[in-house]
Amino acid sequence: MTRLQITTPDSLPEESGAEAALRPGRLEEFVGQSQVKASLQIAIDAARARGECLDHLLLFGPPGLGKTTLAMLLAREMGGQLRTSSGPVLEKPGDLVSLLTSLQAGDILFIDEIHRLRPVLEEFLYPAMEDFRVDVRIGDGSQAQTIPMAVERFTLIGATTRFGLLTPPMRARFGMVERLHFYPPEDLRIIVARSARILNLRTDEEGTLEIARRSRGTPRIANRLLRRVRDYAEVKADGVITGPVAREALARLQVDEFGLDDMDARILTTIIEKYGGGPVGLNTVAAAVGEDSGTLEEVYEPYLIQQGYLERTARGRVATPQAFKRFGVQPPPSQASIFE
Ligand SMILES: Nc1ncnc2c1ncn2[C@@H]1O[C@H](COP(=O)(O)OP(=O)(O)O)[C@@H](O)[C@H]1O
Ligand SMILES: [Mg+2]
Repeated sequence: MTRLQITTPDSLPEESGAEAALRPGRLEEFVGQSQVKASLQIAIDAARARGECLDHLLLFGPPGLGKTTLAMLLAREMGGQLRTSSGPVLEKPGDLVSLLTSLQAGDILFIDEIHRLRPVLEEFLYPAMEDFRVDVRIGDGSQAQTIPMAVERFTLIGATTRFGLLTPPMRARFGMVERLHFYPPEDLRIIVARSARILNLRTDEEGTLEIARRSRGTPRIANRLLRRVRDYAEVKADGVITGPVAREALARLQVDEFGLDDMDARILTTIIEKYGGGPVGLNTVAAAVGEDSGTLEEVYEPYLIQQGYLERTARGRVATPQAFKRFGVQPPPSQASIFE
């Protein structure tokens, strides 16, 4: 079966070597997200004490915040083999059935983008999660038979950026649901400093903080910017990543001083320029920027709201005075009244 990928906690097939090298190997090295880490640690300790598998776990949050990393860390902590797949890769019920029946006791099955699992496959997953059984259907029509097959005790870890797209029965089958949040600059600074050590780079505190501040709260972006700044530092500044070097490098990369990316900027300028700052409906914004409304809602908006650029009101999305200021636009008088 070609679709099944067996991986060790050190590598995932879809990632570059660069990202793999920077992935924390132990839960203690996983920076920040203290509430998530604490509840996972309790679950690990309890499962170990009982000699059982971890409960099925759903991790959700925007891309690059550490969902895959946590799945790998949990497999290692529990001493189980990590097997990975993803919603879009699993096409036919047979793919999922052979994956499930080939699991060994204590394995961790990681399904990325689980919101994209087809409904017909979800039906096969439910009895496996609940009763460690899959019902295989053989034949059709009046000849059809259902044969139950045993599945070893395993832990399913589902990851999704789109919690809202998970069906209620799917959600209900996870014993633990943990949401990952954007990282504050202090945490990202620790991540950047750690990555710099691994990559043998010389940095100072101001340099790492500068990168951290512009990384949109996201470790993957922080690590990516660090590598880009390194290139600049090597060519232009004898290799040392100081505050001024980082600022100069990031300015050349056109990384916004506030860490906003292209889509963030487009969302805000659309609301400001086309709709006078709002309120404007989510679907209207989505159509204007050419992005799906669910992705806007679950991937982009959380960061803009957390940073104080956007508000969700009963009548629609509103750009805040801070957003107007950021883009150098004078808010219309009607806008001021919304925030009084
Ligand atoms: N809490 C963290 N501490 C250190 N590095 C992290 C942390 N979270 C993510 N990373 C790094 O960011 C990158 C992206 O993380 P990943 O787990 O692939 O995100 P996701 O699966 O949520 O998209 C990885 O290379 C990982 O090393
Ligand atoms: Mg991932």
